[in-house]
Amino acid sequence: MQTKTTAVIGSGRIGRAWAIVFARSGFDVKIHDASDDMLKGAIPAIRESVEDLASFNLIDEPVDAIVARITPCTTLAATVADVDLVQENIAEIVDAKRVLFAELDRLTKPDALLASSTSGLPASTFTEGLQGRARCLVAHPVNPPSLVPLVELCGAPWTSAHTLQRARTFYEAAGQKPVTVDREISGFLLNRLQGAVLDEALSLYEQGYASAADLDTVMRDGLAMRWSFMGPFETIDLNAPGGVVDYASRYGGTYRSIAATRMPFDWPAATLDKLDAERRAVLPRERIEERSRWRDRRLMALLAHRRALKDEE
Ligand SMILES: NC(=O)c1ccc[n+]([C@@H]2O[C@H](COP(=O)([O-])OP(=O)(O)OC[C@H]3O[C@@H](n4cnc5c(N)ncnc54)[C@H](O)[C@@H]3O)[C@@H](O)[C@H]2O)c1
Repeated sequence: MQTKTTAVIGSGRIGRAWAIVFARSGFDVKIHDASDDMLKGAIPAIRESVEDLASFNLIDEPVDAIVARITPCTTLAATVADVDLVQENIAEIVDAKRVLFAELDRLTKPDALLASSTSGLPASTFTEGLQGRARCLVAHPVNPPSLVPLVELCGAPWTSAHTLQRARTFYEAAGQKPVTVDREISGFLLNRLQGAVLDEALSLYEQGYASAADLDTVMRDGLAMRWSFMGPFETIDLNAPGGVVDYASRYGGTYRSIAATRMPFDWPAATLDKLDAERRAVLPRERIEERSRWRDRRLMALLAHRRALKDEE
């Protein structure tokens, strides 16, 4: 089979992690950044992350073999010529994405897939006037995609079904878990679900029902135990002997009355300052980076655990 080739544009947090995803799947990767310093720092940082993966037995080849597939490129044209897929990861600024996608449409092979990692900008906001707009889509990862497999594929109204199907096959071949958003919607799926949980957690906090630490515990030691391996629908299906309809007949009324008392959170500064003070007391600002590395190691341990279970099943 011919080696797949990818271009990663923007070598910040997300771009570097995508480079690892593609390279560890055997794809050739060209990586580009408008900042020379970011581009220079990319390979050493990627190597360090791949070494971390190796320490958790999460890669099947030597670190050097994976890193060697990634080539930094100083010009956009050299980065994207001849690739099968471009993964864009520049700043979350719609005008910058619009300019870049126009360039990508001009500089790539006509059948290359053009995907954006944007967290919140629908593809229709930056691809409308392009000749090749049918091959553009959002492929929204979770930070970092090298440790969290979900990728949300969401086209604009003019993205072709063939593009979405090809993208799904491509990300599956890269070892990710693609889902398709059937109609364009801001926030896609993950951030809408995360937003709903955050909204309620912040609202309960604002109204003084619990401390931030206890609300985090509710998620970590309660809901997230199941949610780390099954979704909310499978969860309720198993929580009543007759499945989802039985669950709704038992608890639907409770959820309806909770919904009637829900107070949406309007992100007021005073509540966020209070939350920040509580968080800074347990994690000073200068230790956020170190704790993020700890989070990534926990994710690696979780991935290793999932892999071991898969081998057993
Ligand atoms: N950080 C997250 O949690 C997260 C999660 C999912 C998706 N995303 C999305 O991924 C994208 C990148 O986010 P990030 O956190 O990696 O940002 P980042 O700031 O770490 O990296 C952005 C990089 O893009 C470079 N850049 C900016 N304009 C450029 C251009 N025109 N050409 C080439 N390079 C350019 C910058 O120099 C920088 O290195 C955003 O659209 C964001 O919404 C972020």
